[in-house]
Formats: sequence, structure tokens, C-alpha cells
Amino acid sequence: MATDLAVDPCVAVIFGASGDLARRKLLPGIYNLGRNRLLPPAFGIVGFARRDKSDDEFRAWMKESVEQHSRHKPIDSAVWDDLAQSMVYVQGNFDEPAAYQRLSEKLEQLDEQRGTRGGRVFYLSVPAASVRPIVDNLHAAGLCRAPKSAPEGTYPRVIVEKPFGVDLESARALNRDLLAKLEEKQIFRIDHYLGKETVQNLLVLRFGNTIFEPLWNRDHISHIEITAAEHIGMEGRGKFYEATGLMRDIIQNHALQLLCMVTMEAPISWAADAVRDEKVKTLRALRPIVGHEAARLSTVRAQYTRGVVRGDEVHGYRDEPDVAAESQVETYAALAMHLDNWRWGGVPIYLRAAKRLKKKVTEIALNFRALPHPLFRDVPGAAEQPNALLLRIQPDEGIAMRFATKVPGQTTAIREVAMDFRYGTAFGEESPEAYERLLLDAMRADATLFTRDDEVEAQWTYVDPILAAWRDGEPRLSTYESGSWGPSEAKALLAVEGHRWSKP
Ligand code: BG6
Repeated sequence: MATDLAVDPCVAVIFGASGDLARRKLLPGIYNLGRNRLLPPAFGIVGFARRDKSDDEFRAWMKESVEQHSRHKPIDSAVWDDLAQSMVYVQGNFDEPAAYQRLSEKLEQLDEQRGTRGGRVFYLSVPAASVRPIVDNLHAAGLCRAPKSAPEGTYPRVIVEKPFGVDLESARALNRDLLAKLEEKQIFRIDHYLGKETVQNLLVLRFGNTIFEPLWNRDHISHIEITAAEHIGMEGRGKFYEATGLMRDIIQNHALQLLCMVTMEAPISWAADAVRDEKVKTLRALRPIVGHEAARLSTVRAQYTRGVVRGDEVHGYRDEPDVAAESQVETYAALAMHLDNWRWGGVPIYLRAAKRLKKKVTEIALNFRALPHPLFRDVPGAAEQPNALLLRIQPDEGIAMRFATKVPGQTTAIREVAMDFRYGTAFGEESPEAYERLLLDAMRADATLFTRDDEVEAQWTYVDPILAAWRDGEPRLSTYESGSWGPSEAKALLAVEGHRWSKP
């Protein structure tokens, strides 16, 4: 993980520049990097998209997006003006070779005018089907290699959005095709959860302290819960969800990354490959859930029905636009997982993710083992297992340690309390957005927070057999009311081993 902020001169080329991600996250992210003086002095931006636009129209459109979506408002006009000068637009279809010639010329012009010296970061903010044609055309136009004028060691980087493939086979094929045109070190597979401050902090918490690590294993932890709940529904993405489902949208990537960060072994260094080696080892240690019976015992899938979320009445999934009336696509998934390795043998890891739950909360709970001898068994409030470490990824970012205390008074009563660390109050400043961090890392060629080819394949290797059982109807798709905490089957999943979700 980078500690050095130096970024080499470069041009960021955004494919799909008129899309939602570019508008809401990427351009505001670049602006905020500029505002915090983190961009190199020699910098350029190229927007590449299908719509016809002049450079000035592109700049005006981007300004509006930044004004609307930047986390710092109002925008600083000096910073914006400087950025706007470095912005140009290329109109083209992703599979149109002539457009890449135009792109190549613009890049050369920027090298001359802005001193960007052949540094290139291509951000593919495009549907999965457009990734291959873009890389093929970049390659044909000679843009997968640095220009001769570039300093020694410069190499273009290509950032690829998730989902990377739709299953193991397609991910392998995509890796193979990309690696025919690019080296692995040039491919930055993004998973924006890794750019979140609190996710990065998991490693600092574990490996930058001595007090936690001795407890971080099967001797002390009884079970782990990982929750990635959202209150939002489809937000116009019904078509995408019908083709994707929650398992591919959230679990295959974000949730498995959280699992890796919380359970992996200490890497030997912060070098990108050292960290990723450990994550791959963890993914490979996941006990496969293969076959109908295993899927029935260890997984729950469900779909939301109508209900009330944060005071508003909302539709069920099947009433969302572009969703089939009989859709079998899941918007909720819960898994009972096991890592077959020395550290975690026998410790269940319960993972759940969903749309349209009561509220947005991403949280990891490490629940400690029960007391060896329940001395306070008869004392009011005493719990068999009072201790937990709660890692709040978002919102209300922080870490809480739960333990039992005596309630002051002349009799003995016990209550669970928490020591609570909150980012907001401890640091008093807002954390950067995940995309800012990841854009910056790609510009400085640091791949630590990006997914490697074998890592993405290991994720699919785990997920594929579960999806296969689900396709066969095992377990059956259940339902949950919007605004609830999910289906009752998810409670039963934990009850098998005598556990329950710490949140309902
Ligand atoms: C995206 C998913 O990758 O992550 C969305 O496609 C989801 O469905 C989003 O809403 C959640 O991200 P965050 O940062 O809001 O937790």
C-alpha cells in the first residue's frame, strides 16, 4: 500500500465518460484529488464516449457533475479552471478503430501541451461487453505500450470495472484475452470496497497493533459475521440485476474482499503481490459449497417484496422496471462459510448481503467464545458470551469492543457496554472517497488495492457451484419484506450451530 504520494505525469482517459459512474464518482474524484494537490502538475483528462460533444461542452457537463457530486462544495474555481484546461473529449464508438487514432493524436497533443510524457491511465467505465473491444483497439493503435518518448519504466494502465466476467469460465477467458494484449501489472481490476478507508484500516488494525492478533483465531473467536446491507432497491438497474443478481453484484467481489481482509494471514510486506498472495491463499481455503444438499444447508437466497423503507412505501423486486414477473433473481444472500486452514478451522463465518433491508450498514462482527465457566449465571443481564469486536465499515465508521460490566449499585447486575472508536470524532475530517484513492493508486502504479487475475478466478471458483445449485432451485428462493432484516431462513442458518445475527 502506497505511502509515497508522488504521481508521475499522466493522462487519465475515461471510456464511458458520459456515464453515471464518471459523472457521480470519477470526475468528482479527480477534482477532489486536484483540490488536495495530489494530482501531478503535468496532468490531462480525456473523456471518450459515443455522444457527439465539443471539448467545451464536455467541460461544461463535467463541471455540472462535479458541482453536484463533489464531497467539497462549492467547488474551487481556480482548481476547476486548471483542470478544465487539461480536459479534452474524443467522440467514438468503442469498436471503431478510427476513434483510437483520434485518441492517440489527442494524447500526443496533451504530452506536448501539458508535459504528460506518455503516462496513460485508461479507465474502462463501460459495460462488461465493451472491455475486450476497447483493449483490442487500444492494442491495435499501439496504446498498450508507452510511447518511445516516455521515461524508462513507464507503462500504460487499464482499469477494469466489476463484475469481471459472469462466472469462472468467462473470467478466465477475459483474463486470457486481456493478458494477450497487456501484462498483468498493467491491469487494474477495481473493487471499490478496497478503496474504503475502513477496509484498508482492517489491515492496520490487525497488523499495526499487537493486542488483537493473538486473539484473532479459532482459540478465541467463536464465529464471524459479515453484513453488507443496503436500504436502496434497484434505482433503475433492474435490467442489470436480472442479468447479475446479488451474488455476482456484491458477494463475489465486495463481500469476499471483506472476508479476505479480516481473515487473511499477515503478508510479508506491503508489496502488491505479497498482499494479494495472502488473499488468494485465503480464498483457496474456503470450503467449497458444492451440490444441492450443501447449498440447502449453507446458503439462503431471497427476493424483496413490497414494504416500508425509511418511512417510504416501496415496490417489491418483481414490480421494479425491467424485472420479470416471475423473476428468480436474488436480492438477498446469506452463506454459512468455513475456512479450512489452521487459523480458522471450526469457526463459522456468516456472510449476508442484500438490497432493501432496514438500513445501510456494512459491518463485521468477531464474536468471542463463551465464558469457560459461567460464574455470573444467575446475575441479571449476564451473557454467556459477552465479548465482540465490531468493525463498522460504513456508515458511522469505527470500531467497538463489547464487554460486560457491573451496573453500579448495591446488588450485582451486569450490562454489556462498548468502548467505541469513531473515525469522525477521532480525526475530525472526512475520509476520501474510495474512487479517489483507487484512481490515485492506478496513477502511481500501485496495484495493492486491485484484484489480481488468480484472485478474481478464486472468487468465481467459490461462487460458481453455489450459483449452479441455485439455478437448479436449491435452496428455493424465499422472500423478505422490504425494510426488514431479511428472511427467517437466514436466522435458521445460524441457529444450526447455536448462533444468531447480532443485528436482528
Ligand atoms: C456496487 C454495486 O458495486 O456497490 C451496487 O453494483 C451497490 O449494487 C454498491 O449498491 C454499494 O457500494 P457502496 O460503496 O455504496 O457500499
